[in-house]
Amino acid sequence: MAPLLSVDGIDTYYGQSQALHDVSLSVDEGEVVTVLGRNGAGKTTTLRSIVGIAPPRHGRIEYGGEDIVGMSTHDIIQRGIGYVPEDRQVWSTLTVAENLEVPAGRGGDWTLEDAYDLFPTLDDLREARAGTLSGGEQQMLVIARGLLGGTDLLLLDEPSEGLAPQIVSDVRDAIVDLKDDLTILLVEQNVNLALDVADRVFVLANGEVVHQSRADDLDADDPAIREHVAV
Ligand SMILES: Nc1ncnc2c1ncn2[C@@H]1O[C@H](COP(=O)(O)OP(=O)(O)OP(=O)(O)O)[C@@H](O)[C@H]1O
Ligand SMILES: [Mg+2]
Repeated sequence: MAPLLSVDGIDTYYGQSQALHDVSLSVDEGEVVTVLGRNGAGKTTTLRSIVGIAPPRHGRIEYGGEDIVGMSTHDIIQRGIGYVPEDRQVWSTLTVAENLEVPAGRGGDWTLEDAYDLFPTLDDLREARAGTLSGGEQQMLVIARGLLGGTDLLLLDEPSEGLAPQIVSDVRDAIVDLKDDLTILLVEQNVNLALDVADRVFVLANGEVVHQSRADDLDADDPAIREHVAV
């Protein structure tokens, strides 16, 4: 079966500066695939290339068998890709419920009630202004928002960054719950979280894929891996 997402030999630039060099990866339907790498490795750029914010100069990206390079971000998202960027931007003056009602209005399999079931914390905060939430609560809100509106593939950029261990564990549990219904591409620096939930792993360094394997087969103590991931 063809992968749901296939990234094939992409080169992505910011102006003259090349951030990705011949990056290839694939995500099969129902898989959780993680991309690990240190600061500046090119993890975020990979996600931005997929959603057309930083389109590659060379290479192909296919989603559901369709070439999506050159499409607008809006058109790519509409095809069923949910993007949760690293900056956790909630609509701060709107309530939690209002933040979720906007994407929920676009249809899709996930309902508002599913989102509240996944994150009961948000259920208790429905009427709170999103700008008043803690960092962990805002992370839950942007993940919930990324699910709504017909998402089949969820792109998560460092969801655990800066969160207290208990909240990281809540985010982990949510990803495990989501695994049954969704395909996920997870960018992380938290190796333990990533390997715990992922089926397959790619390691990026200096904009290149330096390792790929099943998650179970990655030896995080191997010096060749430790060089490229923060443990
Ligand atoms: N808007 C931009 N303009 C110019 N260069 C950029 C821009 N965004 C990222 N870069 C450069 O591209 C390279 C890859 O950055 P990227 O943000 O993809 O890394 P990352 O792996 O997500 O890092 P982090 O873990 O810190 O989020 C870095 O060298 C970075 O300086
Ligand atoms: Mg990043």
